[in-house]
Amino acid sequence: MKEISITATFQVFNAIDELSEKAQSLMVQAIAIRKKAYAPYSKFKVGAAILLDNGKVVLGSNQENAAYPSGLCAERVAIFQAGTLYPEAKIIKIAISAASDTNITNTPIPPCGGCRQSISEYEIKQEAPIAIYFMGETGAIYKSESIKNLLPLMFDKNFL
Ligand code: THU
Repeated sequence: MKEISITATFQVFNAIDELSEKAQSLMVQAIAIRKKAYAPYSKFKVGAAILLDNGKVVLGSNQENAAYPSGLCAERVAIFQAGTLYPEAKIIKIAISAASDTNITNTPIPPCGGCRQSISEYEIKQEAPIAIYFMGETGAIYKSESIKNLLPLMFDKNFL
């Protein structure tokens, strides 16, 4: 038996104004679109903003459904829309902000497992890392240089 250890590295920013200008603008857009999320059941709203290498920004917010699993997370709404509209473009960054109508979210809120898997598909497809920034409603922002930090031992097309 041997043990292996996988490390994940994140950069921590104390507030939005510590981010680069581009990342800051992207997070501001994620926050704005978060406020328009359709989340009547969970009251938990998420916004995602994606910057592409063609300069376009693609937005998403979570969209819920009375039949709960039929809804979709903000990150996947955004990334599938980016893949639909600009299939040849590379994704440079994703900014994510989450806030609850019922609790205070002041710690960084990472994307769920399903969204991590979806993001990994595009990172592998484009053969270039996607930077991921995530936060709650207020407080610190975590940045990962690649989805790899958030999804160690990821399942990908090489296993098929
Ligand atoms: N949600 C997202 O939009 N992104 C995530 O990464 C986690 C969860 C949404 C799904 C659902 O509408 C609500 O947040 C509560 O889970």
